[in-house]
Amino acid sequence: MPVIIETQGNALTYETIEPEAGLKAALATSRADLVDTIRDSGLMGRGGAGFPTGMKWGFCAAEKADQKYVICNADEGEPGTFKDRVILTRFADLVLEGMTIGGYAVGASLGIIYLRAEYTYLRPHLNDVIQKRRAAGLLGHDVCGVEGFDFDVIVAMGAGAYVCGEETALIESLEGFRGEPRNRPPFPVVAGLLNNPTVVNNVETLASVAAIMAKGTEWFKSFGTDKSSGYKLFSVSGDCDKPGVYEFPWGITVAELLKEVGGEGAKAVQIGGASGVCVPARDFERRLAFEDIPTGGSVMVIGPDRDILDVAENFLEFFVEESCGQCTPCRLGNPQMLEAVKLLKAGACPPEFLENVKELAGTMQVASKCGLGQTSPSAFLSILEGFGDEIHNRAAGA
Ligand SMILES: Cc1cc2nc3c(=O)[nH]c(=O)nc-3n(C[C@H](O)[C@H](O)[C@H](O)COP(=O)(O)O)c2cc1C
Ligand code: SF4
Repeated sequence: MPVIIETQGNALTYETIEPEAGLKAALATSRADLVDTIRDSGLMGRGGAGFPTGMKWGFCAAEKADQKYVICNADEGEPGTFKDRVILTRFADLVLEGMTIGGYAVGASLGIIYLRAEYTYLRPHLNDVIQKRRAAGLLGHDVCGVEGFDFDVIVAMGAGAYVCGEETALIESLEGFRGEPRNRPPFPVVAGLLNNPTVVNNVETLASVAAIMAKGTEWFKSFGTDKSSGYKLFSVSGDCDKPGVYEFPWGITVAELLKEVGGEGAKAVQIGGASGVCVPARDFERRLAFEDIPTGGSVMVIGPDRDILDVAENFLEFFVEESCGQCTPCRLGNPQMLEAVKLLKAGACPPEFLENVKELAGTMQVASKCGLGQTSPSAFLSILEGFGDEIHNRAAGA
C-alpha cells in the first residue's frame, strides 16, 4: 500500500527497518561480497540518473588510494522534489548507516553530507545525529569494534545553485571553486574530491542500502519490476487533492498514482522535475520505472485549467537562470527555447523558427557538457509533441 508520509503519518518501509541491522550485516560480510550484494539487489541510484549502485561501488572499491570519500548528495534542487528532506528529517540514522556501509564497501574513511543551502535548518539535527552515532561507536575509530575500519561524517553546505547537485559540480564546490561541472572521464569513482576516488550517492539511495542490508536482496526484489527493483519515494505536488511524499513500488502507472493522490482530472503530469518529461493524459497507462518513465521522484500534477505553455515557460526560465554558462549549447539553447515558447504564447512563432529551435534542442541533448543541458529540452520537446493541438489552436486563435 502506498503511504502518504507527511499527511497521514502511516508506517512506511523505512519505519520497519531495525536500527543498525543493515550495518551489522554489512560488517559481517567481506567487502567484495558486500558490493556483490548491492549489485544483486538491482538498486539503481535514486538521484535521477539511475546508475546501478553496486556497479558504482565496485568501480570505487577497485581503485587503489590512501584516501577515498563517500558523498551523500543532499542538494535536492530538482523542482518539485522534496522526499530527501523528509528522509533527512525522519530517517537521518538510516542515511548515515548507508554512508557507513558505503565507506566500508569502498574503503573510504570520510563521508560528507552535501546539504542544500535551503535546508540549513537541518544542519543542527544532522550534526546531533552524527554526534550520537560517534558516542555509540557507530562512527569514528574502529566502527562497531571492527579493527581498522575508521569512518566519520561531516556536513558541508551548498550555496543554492541547482547545478551543484550534479556530482562533479558538487565536488568543485566542496573544493571551494565555482560550482561548474567537470569533463568526464575521469569519473568521480576514479578521481573525485581532491582527486581521490569518490562515491556520490543520493540520500534515498543510501537509506535504501541500509534497508537492503537489513532485510535482504530477495525482500527488496520482491517489489517493483524486473528491471526496476524495490520501492521509491515520490514527491507529489501540483493540482491534486493530496500532495505529499508517497512510497510506491516501481512499475505503478501514472493513472494509478493519480488515483492515490486525488489528481484524476489532470491533463498532464510532469515526471522527473523540470528536467523530466511531460506526460499527456492519453499516456497515463505508462509506468514509472527505469524501463518506461525513469524518475528521481518528482511528480507534478497539471490540472485541466493550466496553460501548458505557461508550464514550459516556467521550466525554461528556471534553466536559463540555472545554466552555469560553461558550454555553448546550454548557454544559448535554453534562451532560444524560451523565446520560442513566448512567441508560441503570443501566436507569433514562425514555423521555421520553431523547427530550428527543435533541432537545436536535439543538439543540446547530445552536445551539452552535463545533465542540465542534456535534459533541459525534455519538457519543451514533450510538450510540443503531447500538446500540438492545444498549441496550434491557441496560435490560430491568438
Ligand atoms: C543539474 C543536475 C542536478 C542534480 N541534482 C541532484 C540532486 O539534487 N540530488 C541528487 O542526488 N542527484 C542530483 N543529480 C544527479 C547527480 O549528478 C548524481 O547522478 C547522483 O547524485 C548520484 O547518486 P545516485 O547514483 O545515488 O542516484 C543532479 C544532476 C544534474 C545534471
Ligand atoms: S550543460 Fe549547462 S549547466 Fe552543464 S556545463 Fe554546460 S552550461 Fe553548465
